Amino acid sequence: MRRILSLAVAQLSCLAAVSLAAPKASFIPRYQEGTPLGMRCVALDPQDFRGQPIYRIEFDIETPNNGKEEGMIHRSWNEFQKFDKMLHSRWVFDNISDVVLPAEDSVESLHEYLQIAGQHESILISTELSDFLGINWSGQDLGFMSTLTEFMKVVIPQAYRAPEFPPEPPIFTTELDTITAPETPFEIYVYLMAFRARGHLSEYLEFFNSFLNTYPDFSGEDVSPPGHEVVTPPHFDQTYVHFLPGGYNNGHTVRISYLGKSKFNFLHEDLIREYILKYHGEKQPKRILDIGTGPGFSAFVLAELFPEAEVIAVDLAAPYIRMARQWQTLRNITNIKFYQANAEDLSFLESETFDIINYAYVLHEMPADNAKMIVDEMYRLLKSGGVMNGFEVPYVENIVERFFYIEFNTWGHHWDDNGEKGPEPYTEEYELGAQLSLYLEEVGFKDVQQIDYTYFESLFLATKS
Ligand SMILES: C[S@@+](CC[C@H](N)C(=O)[O-])C[C@H]1O[C@@H](n2cnc3c(N)ncnc32)[C@H](O)[C@@H]1O
Repeated sequence: MRRILSLAVAQLSCLAAVSLAAPKASFIPRYQEGTPLGMRCVALDPQDFRGQPIYRIEFDIETPNNGKEEGMIHRSWNEFQKFDKMLHSRWVFDNISDVVLPAEDSVESLHEYLQIAGQHESILISTELSDFLGINWSGQDLGFMSTLTEFMKVVIPQAYRAPEFPPEPPIFTTELDTITAPETPFEIYVYLMAFRARGHLSEYLEFFNSFLNTYPDFSGEDVSPPGHEVVTPPHFDQTYVHFLPGGYNNGHTVRISYLGKSKFNFLHEDLIREYILKYHGEKQPKRILDIGTGPGFSAFVLAELFPEAEVIAVDLAAPYIRMARQWQTLRNITNIKFYQANAEDLSFLESETFDIINYAYVLHEMPADNAKMIVDEMYRLLKSGGVMNGFEVPYVENIVERFFYIEFNTWGHHWDDNGEKGPEPYTEEYELGAQLSLYLEEVGFKDVQQIDYTYFESLFLATKS
């Protein structure tokens, strides 16, 4: 509660918080909506994550319910230049010849520039100014991977207009705040831009990486099971999914993956709960394993649904386990043990001791041989009659569709090629190599079912005989 209160205070006192060179409290910019009334360039603040000096602009807006609000945004000199170019190249702005960008940037000259621009109604009501001030776009209308139609909005710029400038970025000073703070428009913008980075991926990755480096890194204690050495397979530190610089082992990526909960269906705890209840609600499991648990969404649902069961949740990436443990403390859930472990070798766990083994979005993120080793481990660990529940990318049966699916996700590059790789670089391995539905039967599972949910995910069920 105290944490939530401190976040709220940080939001309310946003102007004060960012004016400090090194903020002591996290700064979570809130979404603002309205028509600008005026703006002032008030200071040159220390450089932002992109390494550029940034001017602080304060503005006033009239909100849709006729209230007044103050706001603040940082912009670099380059962004001022881009804004000015937009104003003078679009026909909607007529008679703005008095709006002249100064030859040299300074707080005073840019303040004067904004004062003159603010006298033009056409500028005040424009989308260009909204974008420049970081207002009137929350990104909440994007469904990302919830449906194929929503995803089309993400990848096709003509289908969905993204702002011309990023909104104000958040600043996090504690790991706990990265768990409790709501997603900001800037973070949605960053994610959206990844999917539009084909053709200029390295430039995007530089931007993405410098922002992610501002997040806490969840380094710290050893979280592997006592006496068990974790061996990381080479691909894990070579080719990264979802454009994550350094992959899951880079703890700076934890929050952005955690924010996947607003983008992927089976990260919504309500939906996970609905499906677990539908397919396993009548069971009384004593032991449950969650593989590749990440921030722990599925593990928390399973632990809450089956309070009598012991849940073991493993992930290869130690930072994610540290985050999950912190979140567990916050949620006060006591029947889960989170460990760092490679699911290809879970020899610290005894064979045939689990009633349910779950995973969500894991096996499509690695070479086929590695995915198969994990399936083998699941088979070893399940009791006879135990079930595997996988929320996973579909195995596309139609061969033509399958090739289209591979291209769409990999941008035409094999996972260990050089070159720009798409959001899911292992899709070819998963679709052509692992062929999950077929492999589950090959290792001996019975009643194998693939229940399709959307273009992006299916539910895989299989029982150990
Ligand atoms: C897309 S994330 C999904 C995380 C989580 N299941 C969720 O639903 O949010 C995939 C996760 O699998 C983990 N992973 C990949 N290979 C693994 C392995 N061999 N053993 C354990 N975890 C692994 C990654 O570290 C990552 O956290």
